[in-house]
Amino acid sequence: REIRALTVAIDGPAAAGKGTVAKAVAAHFGFAHLDTGLLYRAVAAKTLTGMDPETAARGLAPADLEDPTLRNPDVAQEASKVAVIPAVRAALVRFQRSFATRAGGAVLDGRDIGTVICPDAPVKLFVTASPEVRAQRRFAELTGKGIEVTYESVLEDVHQRDLRDMSRDQAPLKPADDAKQIDTTEMAIEDAIAAAVALVEAKQAER
Ligand code: DC
Repeated sequence: REIRALTVAIDGPAAAGKGTVAKAVAAHFGFAHLDTGLLYRAVAAKTLTGMDPETAARGLAPADLEDPTLRNPDVAQEASKVAVIPAVRAALVRFQRSFATRAGGAVLDGRDIGTVICPDAPVKLFVTASPEVRAQRRFAELTGKGIEVTYESVLEDVHQRDLRDMSRDQAPLKPADDAKQIDTTEMAIEDAIAAAVALVEAKQAER
């Protein structure tokens, strides 16, 4: 059967599994994938060297997304801080929207994709999990990469970012009214992926 291209918006807090789900859905349907958190992390990597946040966001280039330090916890924390600044968010909107509307279909994951970037996306998911489970997963991921952290520091980081991401004025983290919620606290990631794939297929069958 013909694969119909569409836009899939996936939001949720840090380390809930949205990136894994987004990647798998994109691969399954042959859609392009954009991890929008990387944009904020790339801005953060620049502001950590002293650059002005708005200048960093406006001047962002594709090569900036390849920086291997973007996964580090200090960059994540700084990303959550620069993401509060309206001029930073504004500078990143156009790129995200043009990515979302590419002809071959697109999956975007972040915090405000279903609410602000792609409010008309036909498929919206909100992927959550308890803070403890998310911290456990992020801890395993970071230590697996040889990054030295403690579980307690990762949990603290998760709490701080949740609070900041959910309480900011502009584009706060929250599910869109029409988003399907997937709680991965006690769900295998394969089941979350299967649920997401089924949702996309249901939408394709409607059209
Ligand atoms: O998804 P992530 O952990 O890589 O995101 C890092 C930070 O970037 C996150 O704490 C808040 C910000 N962010 C955002 O404000 N909006 C998005 N669409 C994606 C990320």
